[in-house]
Amino acid sequence: MWVSDLRAYYGTRSGDDVKAVDGVSLEVRPGEVVGIAGESGCGKSTLASVLSLTASSSLKIKGGEFGFDDRTIELNNLSKVPRDWRGKMVALLPQRAMNSLNPTGRIRDFAYDVINAHEPKISRRDAIARARERLESLSLPARVLDSYPHQLSGGMRQRTVAVISTLLNPTVLIADEPSSALDVSSQKALVELLKQLMAQGYITRIVFITHDLPLLGNLADRIAIMYAGKIVEIGSTRQIVDRPEHPYTKSLIASALDPDPAIRLHRIEGIPGAPPDLRDPPPGCRFHPRCKYAMDICTREEPPHVKNLTTGDGYAACWWVQRNNDHASAGIAAVNAGIEGVTSERRPTIPLRPAQAVGD
Ligand SMILES: Nc1ncnc2c1ncn2[C@@H]1O[C@H](COP(=O)(O)OP(=O)(O)O)[C@@H](O)[C@H]1O
Ligand code: SF4
Ligand SMILES: [Mg+2]
Repeated sequence: MWVSDLRAYYGTRSGDDVKAVDGVSLEVRPGEVVGIAGESGCGKSTLASVLSLTASSSLKIKGGEFGFDDRTIELNNLSKVPRDWRGKMVALLPQRAMNSLNPTGRIRDFAYDVINAHEPKISRRDAIARARERLESLSLPARVLDSYPHQLSGGMRQRTVAVISTLLNPTVLIADEPSSALDVSSQKALVELLKQLMAQGYITRIVFITHDLPLLGNLADRIAIMYAGKIVEIGSTRQIVDRPEHPYTKSLIASALDPDPAIRLHRIEGIPGAPPDLRDPPPGCRFHPRCKYAMDICTREEPPHVKNLTTGDGYAACWWVQRNNDHASAGIAAVNAGIEGVTSERRPTIPLRPAQAVGD
Protein backbone atom coordinates (compact mmCIF):
# COMPACT_ATOMS: atom_id res chain seq x y z
CA MET A 1 0.00 0.00 0.00
CA TRP A 2 1.28 3.46 -0.76
CA VAL A 3 0.38 7.13 -1.08
CA SER A 4 2.28 9.48 -3.28
CA ASP A 5 2.57 13.27 -2.97
CA LEU A 6 -0.53 13.54 -0.80
CA ARG A 7 -1.70 17.08 -0.11
CA ALA A 8 -4.67 17.43 2.25
CA TYR A 9 -5.80 20.86 3.46
CA TYR A 10 -8.58 22.08 5.76
CA GLY A 11 -10.53 25.12 4.64
CA THR A 12 -10.95 27.95 7.18
CA ARG A 13 -13.28 30.94 7.51
CA SER A 14 -10.39 33.32 6.82
CA GLY A 15 -9.86 31.59 3.49
CA ASP A 16 -6.32 30.39 4.26
CA ASP A 17 -6.13 26.62 4.07
CA VAL A 18 -4.48 24.67 6.90
CA LYS A 19 -1.85 22.65 5.03
CA ALA A 20 -2.09 19.69 7.38
CA VAL A 21 -0.48 17.14 5.04
CA ASP A 22 1.65 18.64 2.32
CA GLY A 23 3.48 16.40 -0.12
CA VAL A 24 3.65 13.15 1.82
CA SER A 25 4.68 9.92 0.08
CA LEU A 26 4.72 6.70 2.05
CA GLU A 27 4.88 3.01 1.25
CA VAL A 28 3.85 0.28 3.67
CA ARG A 29 5.40 -2.99 2.56
CA PRO A 30 3.95 -6.45 3.14
CA GLY A 31 4.59 -7.76 6.65
CA GLU A 32 5.66 -4.35 7.88
CA VAL A 33 4.74 -2.11 10.81
CA VAL A 34 5.44 1.54 9.97
CA GLY A 35 5.45 3.93 12.91
CA ILE A 36 4.64 7.61 12.43
CA ALA A 37 5.76 10.01 15.13
CA GLY A 38 5.88 13.74 15.62
CA GLU A 39 4.63 16.55 17.84
CA SER A 40 0.96 17.29 18.24
CA GLY A 41 -0.52 19.19 15.29
CA CYS A 42 1.98 17.96 12.68
CA GLY A 43 -0.66 16.20 10.56
CA LYS A 44 -0.55 12.60 11.81
CA SER A 45 -4.30 12.19 12.30
CA THR A 46 -5.04 13.91 9.01
CA LEU A 47 -2.73 11.44 7.25
CA ALA A 48 -4.40 8.57 9.17
CA SER A 49 -7.85 9.73 8.08
CA VAL A 50 -6.81 9.71 4.42
CA LEU A 51 -4.98 6.37 4.63
CA SER A 52 -7.99 4.79 6.35
CA LEU A 53 -10.37 6.41 3.85
CA THR A 54 -12.32 8.00 6.70
CA ALA A 55 -11.45 11.67 6.08
CA SER A 56 -14.23 14.14 6.85
CA SER A 57 -15.72 16.28 4.11
CA SER A 58 -14.01 19.37 5.57
CA LEU A 59 -10.68 17.96 4.38
CA LYS A 60 -9.84 19.01 0.85
CA ILE A 61 -7.62 16.52 -0.94
CA LYS A 62 -5.58 18.74 -3.26
CA GLY A 63 -3.64 15.94 -4.85
CA GLY A 64 -2.00 12.59 -4.52
CA GLU A 65 -2.36 8.99 -5.53
CA PHE A 66 -3.25 5.99 -3.45
CA GLY A 67 -2.44 2.42 -4.37
CA PHE A 68 -3.01 -1.12 -3.23
CA ASP A 69 -0.93 -3.65 -5.12
CA ASP A 70 -1.74 -2.95 -8.77
CA ARG A 71 -4.82 -0.77 -8.13
CA THR A 72 -4.25 2.99 -8.18
CA ILE A 73 -6.67 5.85 -7.57
CA GLU A 74 -6.32 9.61 -7.73
CA LEU A 75 -7.06 10.93 -4.26
CA ASN A 76 -8.64 14.25 -5.22
CA ASN A 77 -12.06 12.70 -4.83
CA LEU A 78 -12.39 10.28 -1.92
CA SER A 79 -15.90 9.39 -3.04
CA LYS A 80 -14.30 7.59 -6.01
CA VAL A 81 -12.70 5.08 -3.63
CA PRO A 82 -14.41 1.73 -4.09
CA ARG A 83 -16.77 1.18 -1.15
CA ASP A 84 -15.40 -2.25 -0.39
CA TRP A 85 -11.93 -0.83 0.31
CA ARG A 86 -13.03 0.71 3.61
CA GLY A 87 -13.01 -1.96 6.30
CA LYS A 88 -11.91 -4.71 3.96
CA MET A 89 -8.71 -3.28 2.46
CA VAL A 90 -8.01 -0.80 5.24
CA ALA A 91 -9.37 -0.48 8.78
CA LEU A 92 -8.96 2.23 11.39
CA LEU A 93 -8.22 1.73 15.08
CA PRO A 94 -8.91 5.15 16.60
CA GLN A 95 -7.48 6.72 19.75
CA ARG A 96 -10.63 6.08 21.74
CA ALA A 97 -12.41 2.84 20.96
CA MET A 98 -15.53 4.34 22.51
CA ASN A 99 -15.83 6.58 19.43
CA SER A 100 -16.34 3.61 17.13
CA LEU A 101 -18.78 1.80 19.42
CA ASN A 102 -22.46 2.45 19.86
CA PRO A 103 -22.86 2.80 23.66
CA THR A 104 -26.33 1.24 23.57
CA GLY A 105 -25.24 -1.81 21.56
CA ARG A 106 -23.41 -4.91 22.72
CA ILE A 107 -20.00 -5.81 21.30
CA ARG A 108 -21.63 -8.65 19.32
CA ASP A 109 -23.82 -6.08 17.51
CA PHE A 110 -20.68 -4.19 16.52
CA ALA A 111 -19.13 -7.45 15.23
CA TYR A 112 -22.25 -8.22 13.20
CA ASP A 113 -22.31 -4.70 11.71
CA VAL A 114 -18.65 -4.92 10.64
CA ILE A 115 -19.12 -8.23 8.83
CA ASN A 116 -22.60 -7.47 7.52
CA ALA A 117 -21.39 -4.26 5.82
CA HIS A 118 -19.38 -6.43 3.40
CA GLU A 119 -21.27 -9.71 3.56
CA PRO A 120 -24.93 -8.67 3.60
CA LYS A 121 -26.17 -12.25 3.40
CA ILE A 122 -24.41 -13.44 6.54
CA SER A 123 -26.66 -14.42 9.44
CA ARG A 124 -26.24 -12.74 12.81
CA ARG A 125 -25.48 -16.15 14.31
CA ASP A 126 -22.65 -16.91 11.85
CA ALA A 127 -21.15 -13.44 12.20
CA ILE A 128 -21.06 -13.71 15.98
CA ALA A 129 -19.62 -17.24 15.76
CA ARG A 130 -16.83 -15.88 13.56
CA ALA A 131 -16.09 -13.11 16.06
CA ARG A 132 -16.06 -15.64 18.93
CA GLU A 133 -13.59 -17.86 17.07
CA ARG A 134 -11.33 -14.91 16.31
CA LEU A 135 -11.29 -13.71 19.93
CA GLU A 136 -10.48 -17.22 21.16
CA SER A 137 -7.69 -17.65 18.61
CA LEU A 138 -6.14 -14.52 20.09
CA SER A 139 -6.60 -15.73 23.69
CA LEU A 140 -9.20 -13.06 24.47
CA PRO A 141 -12.37 -13.92 26.40
CA ALA A 142 -15.31 -14.49 24.01
CA ARG A 143 -17.71 -13.35 26.73
CA VAL A 144 -16.88 -9.73 25.83
CA LEU A 145 -19.32 -10.20 22.94
CA ASP A 146 -22.19 -10.09 25.44
CA SER A 147 -20.96 -6.89 27.08
CA TYR A 148 -21.86 -3.29 26.52
CA PRO A 149 -18.86 -1.02 25.84
CA HIS A 150 -19.03 0.70 29.26
CA GLN A 151 -18.76 -2.68 31.00
CA LEU A 152 -15.24 -3.23 29.64
CA SER A 153 -12.06 -1.62 30.94
CA GLY A 154 -10.40 0.92 28.63
CA GLY A 155 -7.66 -1.56 27.72
CA MET A 156 -10.04 -4.44 27.00
CA ARG A 157 -12.30 -2.14 24.99
CA GLN A 158 -9.37 -1.05 22.82
CA ARG A 159 -8.20 -4.67 22.31
CA THR A 160 -11.74 -5.76 21.47
CA VAL A 161 -12.14 -3.00 18.87
CA ALA A 162 -8.77 -3.97 17.35
CA VAL A 163 -10.00 -7.56 16.94
CA ILE A 164 -13.51 -6.76 15.70
CA SER A 165 -12.40 -4.08 13.24
CA THR A 166 -9.97 -6.57 11.67
CA LEU A 167 -12.51 -9.40 11.35
CA LEU A 168 -12.54 -8.89 7.58
CA ASN A 169 -8.75 -9.39 7.44
CA PRO A 170 -7.99 -5.94 5.98
CA THR A 171 -4.66 -5.52 4.24
CA VAL A 172 -3.72 -2.59 6.47
CA LEU A 173 -4.66 -1.49 9.96
CA ILE A 174 -4.23 2.22 10.60
CA ALA A 175 -3.86 2.75 14.35
CA ASP A 176 -4.05 6.45 15.31
CA GLU A 177 -2.62 6.90 18.82
CA PRO A 178 -4.54 3.78 19.91
CA SER A 179 -2.70 3.48 23.19
CA SER A 180 -2.24 7.06 24.35
CA ALA A 181 -5.25 6.96 26.69
CA LEU A 182 -4.15 3.63 28.22
CA ASP A 183 -2.01 2.78 31.25
CA VAL A 184 1.38 1.19 30.64
CA SER A 185 0.30 -2.46 31.05
CA SER A 186 -2.73 -1.98 28.75
CA GLN A 187 -0.44 -0.32 26.21
CA LYS A 188 1.84 -3.35 26.30
CA ALA A 189 -1.10 -5.75 25.94
CA LEU A 190 -2.38 -3.82 22.92
CA VAL A 191 1.03 -3.86 21.24
CA GLU A 192 1.29 -7.62 21.85
CA LEU A 193 -2.19 -8.12 20.37
CA LEU A 194 -1.26 -6.15 17.24
CA LYS A 195 1.85 -8.30 16.83
CA GLN A 196 -0.32 -11.41 17.17
CA LEU A 197 -2.77 -10.14 14.53
CA MET A 198 0.22 -9.86 12.18
CA ALA A 199 1.78 -13.19 13.23
CA GLN A 200 -1.49 -15.04 12.63
CA GLY A 201 -1.88 -13.42 9.22
CA TYR A 202 -5.17 -11.62 9.95
CA ILE A 203 -3.57 -8.38 8.80
CA THR A 204 -0.39 -7.91 6.79
CA ARG A 205 0.56 -4.29 7.47
CA ILE A 206 0.16 -1.77 10.29
CA VAL A 207 0.60 1.99 10.36
CA PHE A 208 1.00 2.91 14.02
CA ILE A 209 0.77 6.60 14.84
CA THR A 210 1.98 7.97 18.15
CA HIS A 211 3.72 10.88 19.80
CA ASP A 212 5.39 8.38 22.17
CA LEU A 213 8.50 7.33 20.25
CA PRO A 214 9.80 4.71 22.73
CA LEU A 215 6.64 2.67 22.16
CA LEU A 216 7.62 2.21 18.51
CA GLY A 217 11.00 0.69 19.37
CA ASN A 218 9.27 -2.56 20.28
CA LEU A 219 6.79 -2.65 17.41
CA ALA A 220 7.79 -0.81 14.25
CA ASP A 221 10.08 -2.01 11.47
CA ARG A 222 10.44 1.52 10.10
CA ILE A 223 9.65 4.94 11.54
CA ALA A 224 8.59 8.09 9.70
CA ILE A 225 9.01 11.40 11.52
CA MET A 226 6.50 14.12 10.64
CA TYR A 227 6.94 17.84 11.14
CA ALA A 228 4.50 20.53 10.00
CA GLY A 229 2.70 18.37 7.45
CA LYS A 230 5.75 16.66 5.95
CA ILE A 231 7.80 13.52 6.52
CA VAL A 232 11.20 14.93 7.47
CA GLU A 233 12.94 11.59 8.03
CA ILE A 234 12.15 7.93 7.47
CA GLY A 235 14.29 4.89 8.12
CA SER A 236 14.59 1.58 9.93
CA THR A 237 13.62 1.73 13.59
CA ARG A 238 17.23 1.03 14.62
CA GLN A 239 18.58 3.83 12.44
CA ILE A 240 16.02 6.38 13.62
CA VAL A 241 16.52 5.52 17.29
CA ASP A 242 20.31 5.01 17.27
CA ARG A 243 21.51 7.23 14.42
CA PRO A 244 18.90 9.91 13.67
CA GLU A 245 20.09 12.32 10.97
CA HIS A 246 17.52 15.13 10.76
CA PRO A 247 17.94 17.83 13.44
CA TYR A 248 14.26 17.52 14.38
CA THR A 249 14.51 13.74 14.78
CA LYS A 250 17.62 14.17 16.92
CA SER A 251 15.73 16.49 19.28
CA LEU A 252 12.69 14.24 19.34
CA ILE A 253 14.83 11.23 20.25
CA ALA A 254 16.70 13.22 22.91
CA SER A 255 13.45 14.29 24.56
CA ALA A 256 11.96 10.79 24.23
CA LEU A 257 14.81 9.49 26.36
CA ASP A 258 14.10 12.03 29.11
CA PRO A 259 12.82 10.34 32.28
CA ASP A 260 10.35 13.19 32.89
CA PRO A 261 7.06 12.24 31.18
CA ALA A 262 6.10 15.91 30.84
CA ILE A 263 9.13 16.45 28.61
CA ARG A 264 8.86 13.03 26.96
CA LEU A 265 5.31 13.51 25.79
CA HIS A 266 4.60 17.20 25.65
CA ARG A 267 7.76 19.21 25.14
CA ILE A 268 10.62 18.86 22.76
CA GLU A 269 13.74 19.44 24.79
CA GLY A 270 16.27 21.87 23.45
CA ILE A 271 14.19 23.30 20.61
CA PRO A 272 12.96 26.82 21.17
CA GLY A 273 9.63 27.89 19.74
CA ALA A 274 6.63 25.90 18.62
CA PRO A 275 5.50 24.19 15.41
CA PRO A 276 4.36 26.74 12.81
CA ASP A 277 0.85 27.83 11.96
CA LEU A 278 0.02 25.57 9.03
CA ARG A 279 -2.11 28.28 7.40
CA ASP A 280 1.12 30.09 6.62
CA PRO A 281 4.10 27.76 7.09
CA PRO A 282 7.64 29.16 6.79
CA PRO A 283 9.18 29.01 3.31
CA GLY A 284 12.04 26.62 2.55
CA CYS A 285 12.43 24.12 5.38
CA ARG A 286 9.43 24.45 7.69
CA PHE A 287 11.67 23.65 10.66
CA HIS A 288 14.14 26.48 9.98
CA PRO A 289 12.89 28.98 12.61
CA ARG A 290 13.66 26.37 15.32
CA CYS A 291 16.76 24.72 13.86
CA LYS A 292 20.19 25.46 15.29
CA TYR A 293 21.84 24.26 12.06
CA ALA A 294 19.73 26.46 9.76
CA MET A 295 21.61 28.02 6.83
CA ASP A 296 20.54 30.71 4.42
CA ILE A 297 19.35 28.19 1.84
CA CYS A 298 17.06 26.58 4.46
CA THR A 299 15.00 29.77 4.63
CA ARG A 300 14.44 29.83 0.88
CA GLU A 301 14.45 26.37 -0.66
CA GLU A 302 12.69 23.20 0.24
CA PRO A 303 15.29 20.66 1.40
CA PRO A 304 16.06 17.62 -0.76
CA HIS A 305 15.39 14.05 0.37
CA VAL A 306 18.92 12.92 1.23
CA LYS A 307 19.28 9.15 1.09
CA ASN A 308 20.70 7.48 4.18
CA LEU A 309 24.23 6.46 3.20
CA THR A 310 24.62 3.76 5.86
CA THR A 311 21.40 1.83 5.41
CA GLY A 312 20.63 2.74 1.79
CA ASP A 313 16.95 2.82 2.84
CA GLY A 314 15.19 5.99 3.94
CA TYR A 315 16.06 9.68 3.82
CA ALA A 316 16.31 12.89 5.78
CA ALA A 317 14.86 16.05 4.21
CA CYS A 318 17.64 18.44 5.17
CA TRP A 319 20.24 20.74 3.60
CA TRP A 320 22.61 20.23 6.55
CA VAL A 321 22.50 16.43 6.17
CA GLN A 322 23.20 16.83 2.47
CA ARG A 323 26.17 19.09 3.17
CA ASN A 324 27.56 16.60 5.72
CA ASN A 325 27.16 13.75 3.26
CA ASP A 326 28.90 15.78 0.54
CA HIS A 327 31.79 16.50 2.93
CA ALA A 328 31.95 12.84 3.95
CA SER A 329 31.96 11.72 0.31
CA ALA A 330 34.63 14.30 -0.55
CA GLY A 331 36.71 13.06 2.40
CA ILE A 332 36.33 9.44 1.34
CA ALA A 333 37.24 10.39 -2.24
CA ALA A 334 40.35 12.21 -0.95
CA VAL A 335 41.37 9.23 1.19
CA ASN A 336 40.78 6.86 -1.73
CA ALA A 337 42.82 9.12 -4.01
CA GLY A 338 45.61 9.03 -1.40
CA ILE A 339 45.48 5.26 -1.17
CA GLU A 340 45.45 5.05 -4.95
CA GLY A 341 48.54 7.31 -5.10
CA VAL A 342 50.44 5.19 -2.58
CA THR A 343 49.41 1.87 -4.07
CA SER A 344 50.22 2.87 -7.65
CA GLU A 345 53.70 4.02 -6.59
CA ARG A 346 54.42 0.90 -4.60
CA ARG A 347 52.41 -1.55 -6.62
CA PRO A 348 54.72 -4.48 -7.49
CA THR A 349 54.95 -5.27 -11.11
CA ILE A 350 53.50 -8.71 -11.58
CA PRO A 351 54.70 -10.34 -14.76
CA LEU A 352 51.63 -11.00 -16.87
CA ARG A 353 51.40 -14.19 -18.80
CA PRO A 354 50.69 -13.49 -22.41
CA ALA A 355 47.11 -14.32 -23.33
CA GLN A 356 46.81 -17.75 -24.74
CA ALA A 357 45.77 -17.94 -28.29
CA VAL A 358 42.48 -19.71 -28.90
CA GLY A 359 43.10 -23.32 -29.69
CA ASP A 360 46.44 -23.52 -27.78
N1 LIG B 1 -11.21 19.80 11.19
C1 LIG B 1 -10.18 20.63 11.12
N2 LIG B 1 -10.33 21.90 10.65
C2 LIG B 1 -9.28 22.75 10.56
N3 LIG B 1 -8.02 22.44 10.95
C3 LIG B 1 -7.82 21.21 11.45
C4 LIG B 1 -8.88 20.25 11.57
N4 LIG B 1 -8.36 19.10 12.11
C5 LIG B 1 -7.04 19.33 12.30
N5 LIG B 1 -6.73 20.60 11.92
C6 LIG B 1 -5.39 21.23 11.94
O1 LIG B 1 -4.56 20.46 11.06
C7 LIG B 1 -3.25 20.37 11.60
C8 LIG B 1 -2.88 18.90 11.75
O2 LIG B 1 -3.72 18.32 12.72
P1 LIG B 1 -3.71 16.77 13.05
O3 LIG B 1 -3.72 16.01 11.76
O4 LIG B 1 -4.79 16.49 14.01
O5 LIG B 1 -2.27 16.59 13.74
P2 LIG B 1 -1.75 15.52 14.80
O6 LIG B 1 -2.60 14.29 14.69
O7 LIG B 1 -0.33 15.29 14.41
O8 LIG B 1 -1.86 16.15 16.14
C9 LIG B 1 -3.27 21.13 12.92
O9 LIG B 1 -2.80 22.42 12.64
C10 LIG B 1 -4.72 21.17 13.29
O10 LIG B 1 -5.02 22.31 14.05
S1 SF4 C 1 17.05 21.97 6.14
FE1 SF4 C 1 18.13 23.51 7.33
S2 SF4 C 1 16.62 24.30 8.78
FE2 SF4 C 1 15.84 22.39 7.95
S3 SF4 C 1 16.44 20.87 9.43
FE3 SF4 C 1 18.02 20.92 7.87
S4 SF4 C 1 19.53 22.38 8.61
FE4 SF4 C 1 17.69 22.68 9.83
MG1 LIG D 1 -3.67 13.19 16.19
